[in-house]
Amino acid sequence: MLITIPDVLTSEELTQARAILDAAEWVDGKLTAGYQAQAVKENLQLPESHPAAVKLGEMVLAALARSPLFMSAALPLKVFPPMFNRYTGGGHFGTHVDTAIRSLASTGQRIRTDVSATLFLTAPDRYDGGELIVEDTYGMHSVKLPAGHMVLYPATSLHHVTPVTRGERVSSFFWIQSMIRADGDRTLLYDLDTAIQRLAKESHRNPIGVQLTGVYHNLLRRWAEM
Ligand code: NI
Repeated sequence: MLITIPDVLTSEELTQARAILDAAEWVDGKLTAGYQAQAVKENLQLPESHPAAVKLGEMVLAALARSPLFMSAALPLKVFPPMFNRYTGGGHFGTHVDTAIRSLASTGQRIRTDVSATLFLTAPDRYDGGELIVEDTYGMHSVKLPAGHMVLYPATSLHHVTPVTRGERVSSFFWIQSMIRADGDRTLLYDLDTAIQRLAKESHRNPIGVQLTGVYHNLLRRWAEM
C-alpha cells in the first residue's frame, strides 16, 4: 500500500525545519548506504547524530504521534529516528531496496524496516525532477508532494529518486517496524479501520460498527508482533 499523509508538519514547523536545515553542514549520502545502494546514490545527508537532525527528528516523531492516519496505516512498533537528505545539481538515487535491518548508531537497537517514509520539506514548484518512483506489481508510481506531506510505502519495494535538475529537494526519510510485518495484512487492517471510521461517522452507536471493531481488534491480536 502506498499512502499519502497530508499536513504532517504545520507551516510554522516547516519554516523552522527549513531554517535549521539551510544552516546545517551536509555530508555525502553514500556514508549510510548499503553496498548496492552506494553505487547509485548521489545526494547529501545530515549525519544521524547531528544536533539539527536529532532536534528535527524529535519534531517529526511528535507530529507522527498526533496523526491518526499514520497510526492506522503504519501500525508502528518502532520508528527509526528520522534522517534528512538533500538533492541538488542532478543529485538522484538509483533503483534500490532499503536495507531490511538497521541498527541505531546510539544504542545499537535493531529495527526491521517494514514501511518506508518520505516527508517532503520543499514545495514542489521550487525544484524540477526529484520524483520518488515506487515500483510494485501495478507498475511505477511517481510521488512528488507538497511540503509537509508524507508518503508511506512498503519497504520491500524497489524505488528510486529522479535527478533534481533545478533547485533543491530537502526531505526527511525514515523507516517503521510495524506490528504487522506483511504489507498485505497491514493493508487489510487499514481498509477495515477506514470502513469502521466511515460507519461511525454515519451513525455513532451502530451495533454493526461495534462488531466490526471487535473483528479489527481480534485480527490485530492474532497478527501483531511486539
Ligand atoms: Ni530507499
